Parts: sequence; structure tokens; C-alpha cells
Amino acid sequence: ITDSKNSLEGCEDAMIKELPNALFWDVMEIRKWQDFWFEPGLIKCAMKFNSSFQAKDDDVILASAPKTGTTWLKALCLCILHQNINIPENEDLLTKDNPQFHVQTIESTIYSTKPTPDLYAMPSPRLFHTHLPFSFLPDSVKNSNGKIVCIARNPKDTLVSLWHFFNSIFKPNQEPYPLEKTVEEFCTGVHQYGPYFENVLGYWLESKKRPEKILFLKYEEMLKDPKEQVKKLALFLGKPFEKEEDVDKVVWRCSLERLRNLEVNKNGSVIYGVPNSSYFRKGMVGDWKNYLTPEMEDRINKTTLLKFQGSGLEF
Ligand code: A3P
Repeated sequence: ITDSKNSLEGCEDAMIKELPNALFWDVMEIRKWQDFWFEPGLIKCAMKFNSSFQAKDDDVILASAPKTGTTWLKALCLCILHQNINIPENEDLLTKDNPQFHVQTIESTIYSTKPTPDLYAMPSPRLFHTHLPFSFLPDSVKNSNGKIVCIARNPKDTLVSLWHFFNSIFKPNQEPYPLEKTVEEFCTGVHQYGPYFENVLGYWLESKKRPEKILFLKYEEMLKDPKEQVKKLALFLGKPFEKEEDVDKVVWRCSLERLRNLEVNKNGSVIYGVPNSSYFRKGMVGDWKNYLTPEMEDRINKTTLLKFQGSGLEF
């Protein structure tokens, strides 16, 4: 068994080495596989996920392109599915660990762990997250009765959030990576998990076809009316709220203001040495106006129009 595993890994490595490559943020090698860009380790984990994951009918999979509100959605779904809202604040799981820890990103943490944990033994309903595009999901996920919740965010704020995040990881206390290059890479799609546009579009189109299977949320709408959106989310997950005050509690428990100020998120780091604090920044709509030049704005707007045209998806 070990020999055949090793030779399979050898084949994967050889295959990955043949893929087109680029450098992300001047430091990370990324490769293009099935129209999307990933660091090579992620490609292997995505392959493993695709070939071995066995879906259950009550699974909930969260999906998001990076920096579109993943942490928020993880916190909300954790509260809705795995917690009694009436527990005291200090027993709240969110005070113990960052939402990224409680709801793991399947391809980057679960399938990079050796040996792969026994996912089938996890308590139901299982709650996972992925940044992978819809086309990469295993057939068993697509064809089961499990639900998918996707969150998306307007491309300009996503880009600015991404720029801050990767600067904090790859360039701490250094000159930031040039924003012009980030805009170019975002528009051409040559970045980790890119292109953003096709990633979002895949879930959007599928949610139109199968609204009972995929709920598509927009970060901007959630900020505008969190109560309505959280009620919609809970209903979709089969856990409608009984009392209006419970909705308020969940919205508050998962708010940026509260999460950012929790001790566990002020200090400490969850996964791959990424500080918990880096998941919380401004959390506003339109922050891009503070960073992008009119030329950059124009470039992104034109790309967005081109990519989303005819799909009905607008931000
Ligand atoms: P900004 O960088 O624009 O502030 P992700 O979780 O996908 O990595 O996305 C990170 C973005 O979501 C960051 O946006 C962050 O501030 C914002 N965010 C994190 N937690 C949030 C919350 N509870 N409510 C609203 N926004 C949140």
C-alpha cells in the first residue's frame, strides 16, 4: 500500500511540475490546474478531496473566494448549527478559538494533515469550508442532499482586502506589494485560488439552477441587513429562529466588533502561523475608494463587466 501511495504521489508531483507556473506576491509558486491557480500543495489536497471525500446528506459546505467574508460565514453557521444560543457568552465556542479553527477549510487543512482524519466519524451535521471553485467539488458533494452556502463580495473590496491580508503575511514590516501588480494579477486571474471571477460565477450559476441546494449570499447585503440575511441563512440550513431576540444574539456574537476584541483573536494564531487578528480588518463596503486610482477602478470595472455579463450577477 505504501509503495503504491508513493508512486501515486510521484505521478502527481510529475504532473504538477508540467503545469504552467507563476509567482504569487513574489514569494509563492502557483500553478494553473483546470483553469485555476493554486500553490502545488493545494492541488494535491484538492485532488485527494475530490477523489476520497464521501458526502453525507446533512453536510453543510461553505464556499467562498478568499477575502469575501469567509470568517463571518463560518462564525454564523457555527452558531446556527452547533450552539445553543442561550449558553452564556463565556461558553461560546467563538471565545475559545477563531472561526477558521472551528470550521476548517477542507483542502488546505484537513487534506494536508497526515494521515487524513476520519471525517466520516465527525458528529453530524458536519460543517466544512472550501475556497475551491464549484467545478472542483467531488461528485458526492454535488449529488448529495447536503447544502452549500456561498458568500461573495464585490471585486474591488475583495481585492483591497486581499492586498492587505497578503501584505501582512508575506511582507510584514516591509514595503507593501505594489497595488498595480495586485490589480493586474486579480484581473488576469493569476493569483492563489484565482480567477476570483470564475470562482464566484460557478457558485452563482449553480445557485440559480438549484436554489434548494446552494444559497448565494452577498457580503454587502449581509452588512446592510444582517438580521434578514441571518434569518435567511438559518431557514436555508433547516434551523429557523424561534425568537427574534435569538437572531439579535447570533448577529452580535458573530459581529466583527465582538470577534475582533475577543482575547483569542487579539493574540494567537490558528493555522499555518497566520495570526488570528489578520482575519479582522475594517469590514466595510467601499473601502476600495481609499486605495484604487481611477485607472485601477476602470480596469476592474471593465473586467467585472466582461466576466459577469449576462449572468445576472451584480455588485
Ligand atoms: P476587510 O479586509 O475589507 O476589512 P475572509 O474572512 O474571507 O478572509 O474575509 C476577510 C474580510 O472579512 C475582511 O474584510 C474582514 O475585516 C471581514 N470580516 C471578518 N470578520 C467579519 C465579521 N464578523 N463581520 C463582517 N466582516 C468581517
